[in-house]
Amino acid sequence: MTASVSPLRLVVCINERLTDQRSCVGSGNLEYIAEIKKMIQAENLPIPVIERECLGKCGFGPIMRIAPSGEIFTEVNSDTLKEIMVELKRLLLK
Ligand code: FES
Repeated sequence: MTASVSPLRLVVCINERLTDQRSCVGSGNLEYIAEIKKMIQAENLPIPVIERECLGKCGFGPIMRIAPSGEIFTEVNSDTLKEIMVELKRLLLK
């Protein structure tokens, strides 16, 4: 018997630019990534956090995206993390 694995995952941007251009890490995403990992772990949700170099929305960072649904969260902050958790739990129950 094999356990079912949720295809749900949270993709986060860990890109930092060495220029003055906006980037997710430059906008504080590492702190938000650490925070959302703790929130997911605290609720024991089977959702991996996948780190990617750039999600193509640099001007709107910090960026996180739920896969496979594709919902993108821009200008992530502590309030956004709560919204992401609500959405992850909703998708898990689907
Ligand atoms: S730097 Fe995060 S989307 Fe490009």
